[in-house]
Amino acid sequence: MSVHKNVKKVTTKVLQVMKNEGQKISMLTGYDYSMARIIDTAGIDVILVGDSASNVMAGHETTLPITLNEMIYHASSVVRAVERALVVVDMPFGTYQGNSREALSSAIRIMKESGGHAVKLEGGREVIESITRILSAGIPVMGHLGLTPQSIYKFGTYVVRAKEDDEAQQLIEDAKLLEEAGCFAIVLEKIPAELAAQVAKEVSIPIIGIGAGNGVDGQVLVVHDMLGINNEFNPRFLRKYHNLYQEMLGSFHRYIEDVKSGDFPNEDESY
Ligand code: KIV
Repeated sequence: MSVHKNVKKVTTKVLQVMKNEGQKISMLTGYDYSMARIIDTAGIDVILVGDSASNVMAGHETTLPITLNEMIYHASSVVRAVERALVVVDMPFGTYQGNSREALSSAIRIMKESGGHAVKLEGGREVIESITRILSAGIPVMGHLGLTPQSIYKFGTYVVRAKEDDEAQQLIEDAKLLEEAGCFAIVLEKIPAELAAQVAKEVSIPIIGIGAGNGVDGQVLVVHDMLGINNEFNPRFLRKYHNLYQEMLGSFHRYIEDVKSGDFPNEDESY
């Protein structure tokens, strides 16, 4: 029987059972009440309140500028909408790298003020102390390795990571460290499919991929990207399920015309 269909509330335990039973995990980002309500109603397993909100909601070039308060605002809007999905909230840049005490207080603020169910943060060995401290407070942590966008100025490019052996080896070691520390899952972003599949085999916790091929335990996409709202972002890994950019543009054009021509509102639409 499929865990996916029968579960009323997705927990970190449910995700582990799904991995153990070979059932794929579905995850999408969400940043606001209305969209999260639709995504949850569709039966998604995990909603990630991603710091990609910095790009798609606020229009910043990178994920670095978004603040803890802004993430808490987005997360609390999503939490109010969700009945079934696990809500994971990204810890924004600068709220966990400095020291583990600051990391814990940032994670506590997210959990207390947004009602989210878990946090996600980027990095491996360099943030392990922060991860351990957050976990010790009973807060579930999702890891994130590979192309970690908060380090974009270190990488200098959004190209595929870990193509060379030493970076691939380091990524495998980091995934094992995160598992040992007690993370409940890891996102692998934009790395070779073969490497991602190897990690998914070698660690027992769920591995969620984005641009990491099909050999992992689940997939995540940014909801605005998969709906085709942003028509300028077309990476190879992105499957677009709609062209909402064109649809919305058409609707806005028609509305403007209707208002200008006096066609809207008509008698039926008036009191
Ligand atoms: O912020 C985000 O949307 C993410 C996903 C791309 C995994 O971290």
